[in-house]
Amino acid sequence: MDYKNEEVQAAAARLNQQFEEAEDKRTVLRSAELRALYERLKTLPAGEPRASFGAEVNHLRQELERKVKEANTPALVREPIDVTAPFDVNAAKPQLLTADNGSIHPLSAEIEKITDIFARMGFNAVESREIDDDYHMFTSLNFPPDHPARDEYDTFVTDEGLFAPAHTSIMQNRVLKEGKEGLEKGQPIAAIIPGRVFRNEDLDARHEHTFYQLEGIYVDKGIHAGHLVATLKTFLEEYFSRELKVKTQPFYFPFTEPSFEFTLSCPFCDAKGCYICSQTGWIELLGCGMIHPNVLKEGGIDPSVYSGFAWGCGIDRLVMMKYDIEDVRHFESANLKFLRQLR
Ligand code: DAH
Repeated sequence: MDYKNEEVQAAAARLNQQFEEAEDKRTVLRSAELRALYERLKTLPAGEPRASFGAEVNHLRQELERKVKEANTPALVREPIDVTAPFDVNAAKPQLLTADNGSIHPLSAEIEKITDIFARMGFNAVESREIDDDYHMFTSLNFPPDHPARDEYDTFVTDEGLFAPAHTSIMQNRVLKEGKEGLEKGQPIAAIIPGRVFRNEDLDARHEHTFYQLEGIYVDKGIHAGHLVATLKTFLEEYFSRELKVKTQPFYFPFTEPSFEFTLSCPFCDAKGCYICSQTGWIELLGCGMIHPNVLKEGGIDPSVYSGFAWGCGIDRLVMMKYDIEDVRHFESANLKFLRQLR
């Protein structure tokens, strides 16, 4: 473009020249040539020709800015990021990891081991779900409407009134209904349900909003609490590869009668007392009991003919105990330093 003012016209020619030659085009905007035009502007008396000189200088600067912007545009176009790529979040500069650096998450690996032990004891593994309704979360489990026990679960609820399951017991009614026919032909219901559960908890080293539970259900004729204790003791001794003592204490759950808290002798100190069992020698591990007649009835099973036991155990706690992990939040942290120690 041509400028009426000769001084501006000459400066424009030199600045354009500088622009063509510069490696970093942005330097032209900081050029002494351009600054000199503004210095010159200040020396002109107010009114004309100062106003038109100023307008031309501004115009020249805008022209240069536009050219710089255009020249730099290709560099500003970034490569798209593959958000699914396995980046090492611990590296100062993330690098793409080769696939052979991946490993099974410690919880998944332990769930496989647990499922395998129960499979050898005759239990089928059933998948849980991550969204459910009031009926499976509470009603089918003998929670009376408006019962305060409903509040103990700190559930996440959607606007539609659906639940992020707060326990794997949501699957009990489905498993009972599914097993009813086989039961009547003489096949006991024997199922475990490993699943992800969610609670609106205050987070600390022992509490996560997302964690895993292992539900277990067994129903047949003549089942009593002795079967429950023997099943859990056998599993735990296999899982910890050692002999353990177990105790039950009375407890309350709406879906079992009687209900127990199941306690095992500390697998680390053989009940002598250590920091893991808070010097008591015992660890309260899980909730369990004999399935409440109302829960059996709701699953279509006649409680005068059949009885059964059930339990719900926190898997994260079990794995924390096994590997001496001090903070439950490591599991969901995606921290590779933690994950690599357990692969
Ligand atoms: N659902 C209970 C909880 O999350 C645990 C539980 C207790 C499950 C007793 C059971 C049971 O199946 O029989 O607190």
